[in-house]
Amino acid sequence: MPNNDASPSPPPPADVAQALVPAVSRLVSTPVSGRDTVSKAGVGKSADAAGKSACATCSARDFLRAKTERRKLSMVTCYDYTFARLLSKSAIDGILVGDSAAMVMHGHASTLSASVEVMRLHTEAVVRGAAGKFVVADMPFLSFRKGLAAGLDAAHVLMTAGANAVKLEGVDGHEDVIQRLVQSGIPVMGHLGMQPQSVHAYGGFRVQGRDDDSARETARQAMALEELGAFAIVLECVPADLARQITEPLRIPTIGIGAGAGCDGQILVLQDLLGMNTDFRPKFARPFLDGARCVLDAVAQFDEAVKAGTFPATEESYS
Ligand code: KIV
Repeated sequence: MPNNDASPSPPPPADVAQALVPAVSRLVSTPVSGRDTVSKAGVGKSADAAGKSACATCSARDFLRAKTERRKLSMVTCYDYTFARLLSKSAIDGILVGDSAAMVMHGHASTLSASVEVMRLHTEAVVRGAAGKFVVADMPFLSFRKGLAAGLDAAHVLMTAGANAVKLEGVDGHEDVIQRLVQSGIPVMGHLGMQPQSVHAYGGFRVQGRDDDSARETARQAMALEELGAFAIVLECVPADLARQITEPLRIPTIGIGAGAGCDGQILVLQDLLGMNTDFRPKFARPFLDGARCVLDAVAQFDEAVKAGTFPATEESYS
């Protein structure tokens, strides 16, 4: 996600670690409830990907196992069928149909424009392509804040669209929704630190957890999510030291984005990873490809070939 705060971060307060000490989760001995790998297991899973992934066909339980076994988890966002098909051949452990779709795919200034219907359409497209992959769908802005029934309805739409789990931001005030989803067999991924749906409260996409109160709050909420039965937590844009201090005592994995190397896994927006955005690049979004250049070069070659009359060739034409 965009991050327009570049100031250096002081270390987290010393008592954050202490605040986490009582982090005792029933998840320790009790497996996370939720769907296992039944729905998509084995469907079109490529052998090479299965060999390299932390788990053959990941589920919420595998995320917990990876933490126990100290295996790093990798996730990327995806919003469409074509990229989902490609990702199904990769070793990535999970795909997030993020509400960042509102920005990345629809050009909005924030994620607030993502509706349940928009998320359903993107989730269905990804699930069609992402055979064998663990797909998490984002619950969009306010969909889990309008009461228990509305929250369950929103999750119902996303799970019946084919998601294996849902993700939602924050915890305070919607504990009941999280708990009921978990009790209903829906794996829930939390999202703490910078929560893009709160961009207006922050006054921009800003690093969170830099002051003592905010750091302590983030740590407390992480513990609360674990207690409520979440199977993982995305930690977005928090100081690396704080992310590490939150991660260590938790039984559930943290998946970082702009949260340093101390998390149990990492997630990036696919278009950032592919270097598609030349205008804006937050410091954590390492491009693993100069995708914008690749696309522009290919389009330029097409344009030149058309205009030079060398495309299409005879063998590219029907007789
Ligand atoms: O919507 C999204 O893409 C996300 C990731 C940044 C974690 O929530």
